[in-house]
Amino acid sequence: MSYLEKKSVAIGVGGGIAVYKVCELARQLMKRGANVRVVMTRNAQEFVAPLTFQALTGNPVLTDLFDPQQDATFGHLVTGKLADLFIVAPATANLIARIRAGMADDVVTTSLLAATCPILIAPAMNTAMWENPITQGNLQALLADARYRVVGPAAGALAEKTEGMGRLSEPPDIVEAAEACLAPQDLKGWKVLVTAGPTREHLDPVRYLSNPSSGRMGFAIARAAAQRGAQVTLVSGPSELRAPAGVHLVKITSAQEMADATLSRLPGSQLFVAAAAVADQRPEKRAGQKVKKQEGPETQVLVRTPDILASAAAAVAGDGPHRPLLVGFAAETERVVEQAREKLRRKQVDLIAANDVTRIDAGFAVDTNRLTLVDCTGRTQELPCQSKSDAADALLVRAGQLRRELGLIG
Ligand code: PMT
Repeated sequence: MSYLEKKSVAIGVGGGIAVYKVCELARQLMKRGANVRVVMTRNAQEFVAPLTFQALTGNPVLTDLFDPQQDATFGHLVTGKLADLFIVAPATANLIARIRAGMADDVVTTSLLAATCPILIAPAMNTAMWENPITQGNLQALLADARYRVVGPAAGALAEKTEGMGRLSEPPDIVEAAEACLAPQDLKGWKVLVTAGPTREHLDPVRYLSNPSSGRMGFAIARAAAQRGAQVTLVSGPSELRAPAGVHLVKITSAQEMADATLSRLPGSQLFVAAAAVADQRPEKRAGQKVKKQEGPETQVLVRTPDILASAAAAVAGDGPHRPLLVGFAAETERVVEQAREKLRRKQVDLIAANDVTRIDAGFAVDTNRLTLVDCTGRTQELPCQSKSDAADALLVRAGQLRRELGLIG
């Protein structure tokens, strides 16, 4: 499920080279079920014709305050009034200044002034303009109003062949921020710590012990928690995935590094979710150079890695009701629920999400999962096969309930 499903999203398009990316943004919002209406400044139309947005969204595009035909189909007041979310992209320095000043001198500023919904600003401009205290002051003044949020800008190559801060955020990042604007903010005030991905235990610089975890399940949990208002730290082993918007990503390689990064960040958290597939063993010795083949049988001595989840449980055991809720995962190939229950008891955690990794639609490196939630109150809840983002939301809902049932506070 997407929070954009069946929502009316207005995009106020400013005049900057990044307008071409907003075409893709409109497409991605629609893919998630939003009805998209576009309002363009005169300068924006110098970069992309309104017809492009009309063809992409299937809705007329508002470009002129004084065109009777446009006003009859959907005027500037209607656009703002109907919208569940208003995105300004690219928000140029000029457009941000005009919004801050409360101006209503074209279709975009007039529609925005009449809007009562959340407004997401996606700035894009030259680095010096972005860093100019006037622009920063204008943006901060808007953000002082809780209805306004900002996404980006990103750093990278800019139109005038320079590198720096000021690129429009990529469409998937703007979509993620849009989802967050519409999500329930039930985790506001929470600090959430999540582990994800595999760990790699090196034998030498080019060989390691690992597993097929892609990080998708843990990243989905981090993203869902951030969208619902939590302050999220994600400690991840090697993964191809982008950091979810608003999530602090800490990249590690080995189980020991994951343990160090996680346990030092645990105090003050309300929720710890261990979704990582941590290697249980590592080679006793790591060679400094690539090991050469030898004649005859070869032996590797393996030693245990730290159990991060069990160590977390031991670390917070004395904190009473101020401790975080502890959630683990169990990747099992047989007696899934029974083994999850045994893990719950052995690791002294509150909730285990068990996945049967023999199924092709669950577990490692697929987009879906089938979780069975086993908790310390004795309850077992079987969830359907669903996307990892929906599974993440369901897990967070149960975590919230369980915190209340266990009387955890803070
Ligand atoms: O990353 P994806 O491709 O999306 O795949 C998702 C997943 C299958 C990796 C995920 O859903 C999952 O099941 N993660 C846990 C896998 C696992 O290794 O389970 P386990 O039974 O070995 O460990 C049990 C729990 O203890 C887990 O929460 C694990 O993070 C934790 N653990 C394990 C070993 C260790 N040394 N330290 C730990 O904290």
